[in-house]
Amino acid sequence: EMSPEERDFQEKVDAETKIEPKNWMPEGYRKTLIRQISQHAHSEVVGMLPEGNWVTRAPTLKRKLQLMAKIQDEAGHGLYLYSAMETLGADRDEEIEKLHQGKAKYSSIFNYPTLNWADMGAVGWLVDGAAIVNQVVLQRTSYGPYSRAMIRICKEESFHQRQGYQILLDMMREGTEEQKAMVQDAINRLWWPALMMFGPHDDESPNSQQSMAWKIKRKSNDELRQMFIDQTVPQLEFLGCTAPDPDLKWNEETGHYDFGEINWQEFYDVLKGNGPCNRERIKTRKNAIDEGAWVREAAVAYAEKQKQRAQA
Ligand code: ACO
Repeated sequence: EMSPEERDFQEKVDAETKIEPKNWMPEGYRKTLIRQISQHAHSEVVGMLPEGNWVTRAPTLKRKLQLMAKIQDEAGHGLYLYSAMETLGADRDEEIEKLHQGKAKYSSIFNYPTLNWADMGAVGWLVDGAAIVNQVVLQRTSYGPYSRAMIRICKEESFHQRQGYQILLDMMREGTEEQKAMVQDAINRLWWPALMMFGPHDDESPNSQQSMAWKIKRKSNDELRQMFIDQTVPQLEFLGCTAPDPDLKWNEETGHYDFGEINWQEFYDVLKGNGPCNRERIKTRKNAIDEGAWVREAAVAYAEKQKQRAQA
């Protein structure tokens, strides 16, 4: 039996009226949003690290500027998302502390290494491409601050996706045989992890049913994964590359691509903290916070001094 508040809340959700921070909401709704938005924010922040690896090694000044701009965008996305999370009453420092203690999840994809320059192309094209498919529908999520954050984030992600694809196109069109091989190698390594970004199958996804009813999620994990495959395979063919999946083929009857089974053992291993780079990522984040402590202390001291001057 729903309480009157709960019924009122669900009617609003059903009518596509956004839920705002001061509106009544079920505790479960609040908790689920804090969980998802904090994981999403952590993903944006940790997501800077695989790319940061290549800033000093970008092949041209133009590529370096693009890469830095993209990484800064990710930092901005993290900040809007932490702010959206705070409107639900969550504490940013506490949530970040959970990340540093290895207790918070963030997207599995960022626990894979970026081994060659083509990885910067493949990350932009596949990883940001997958992120867009997921986030475009989140623009219609029921929680107002989250949905509004998604609008700007999606615009920026589209640029990321295109700059990534352009890197790969240039390497395939103008590159040496060795550079073309680097592109295929990057795709081979990142293809399956990109498909894992959408999460477990719908029938293995404990949060999906309730999150769909609350319209936090608008499409299921499997639906989004299929959308991503359907839009990405033609781009893969245009590049002149292949996917490391012998079962990938167009299905006339369904009007979708069929594809092989994800290695779920690998997915859950990465979620448990045992991916190739989990420990390194957390350590890097912790160091960044520790080594930046003096900047925050100086900023606080400066603000204090300004305040005293204003009062004097
Ligand atoms: N990496 C890490 N954890 C994952 C992943 C993944 N690829 N997929 C699912 N999980 C986690 C879920 O967070 C959930 O964990 P929890 O219950 O312990 O908190 C668990 O696995 C079970 O999965 P679901 O029940 O399917 O979880 P949920 O309903 O939250 O769906 C999804 C997962 C689709 C990722 C959803 O949270 C979402 O849409 N998040 C927003 C988008 C996002 O976070 N993108 C980050 C990557 S993109 C980028 O940053 C550039």
